[in-house]
Amino acid sequence: MTGVSDQTLIVEGRTMGLGHVVRPGEIDLSHGSILYVDSVTVSFDGFKALNDLSFAIDAGELRCVIGPNGAGKTTMMDVITGKTRPDTGKVYLGQTIDLTEMGEYEIARIGIGRKFQKPTVFESHTVFENLELAMKADKSVWTVLFQRLSGEQRDRIHEMLSRIGLTERADSLAGMLSHGQKQWLEIGMLLMQDPQILLLDEPAAGMSDEETARTAELLQTLAGRHSIVVVEHDMEFVASIARKVTVLHEGRVLAEGSMDRIQNDERVIEVYLGR
Ligand SMILES: Nc1ncnc2c1ncn2[C@@H]1O[C@H](COP(=O)(O)OP(=O)(O)OP(=O)(O)O)[C@@H](O)[C@H]1O
Ligand SMILES: [Mg+2]
Repeated sequence: MTGVSDQTLIVEGRTMGLGHVVRPGEIDLSHGSILYVDSVTVSFDGFKALNDLSFAIDAGELRCVIGPNGAGKTTMMDVITGKTRPDTGKVYLGQTIDLTEMGEYEIARIGIGRKFQKPTVFESHTVFENLELAMKADKSVWTVLFQRLSGEQRDRIHEMLSRIGLTERADSLAGMLSHGQKQWLEIGMLLMQDPQILLLDEPAAGMSDEETARTAELLQTLAGRHSIVVVEHDMEFVASIARKVTVLHEGRVLAEGSMDRIQNDERVIEVYLGR
């Protein structure tokens, strides 16, 4: 296991997003992997978007996934989150929980947070309220906004505001934020649910260079606390955060390893980096 204590992930029973409590031992991390994609194939009209795809993510890891357009990166996230059912293959959370047997809502509840490319925040609510709503995602908007926050809950929100760099914007309407700030807010909202795994599809897309650099910093502060899978095309961004990189091509893993190794891999250069 890399950099995560059992404490963080399994020992304490914690309240997850939507009120789910991860009970001690519920996620079996005995082999170190928190996510295991096992021989997954997904076909669309005979075309294999994923073709016998297998890979594993360690608990607490920050993994980058790269690859040309159409390689199957988004489809891979669709399968993990239950949006798409694989034709064959399995996806395991820890050693024992088979995600392919679960629905999308259940998978989210058990602690797999996903961020799509387009930010989805509540534009007509303040930044603070967005985090508050995310923290209590099992309740209706009205219930949340009329209920008093405990001191502890307030502290959690302030901590998150600081983590995502939006302390000064706490009372601004989310709709007034820049594109990059909305992305950070959405990441913060996912984090309020304390996910085991965070899946981010092109988080830096459309960001300025400065925003991209700040996003890289944010993700680095999360490594070790959460297991994160980031899909990105921006190679400078990937290079700045990457520990281990997985290269997808034609629905399977073409190469995997350190950024250095990937950048010097002839096959990777041919299908992706050298274009
Ligand atoms: N619902 C669908 N129906 C038919 N084909 C699909 C569907 N979803 C994805 N595909 C196809 O599967 C392949 C993989 O798509 P996917 O979106 O996973 O690629 P990607 O690696 O995320 O690419 P990009 O870098 O452009 O986002 C593509 O050829 C795509 O056209
Ligand atoms: Mg995609």
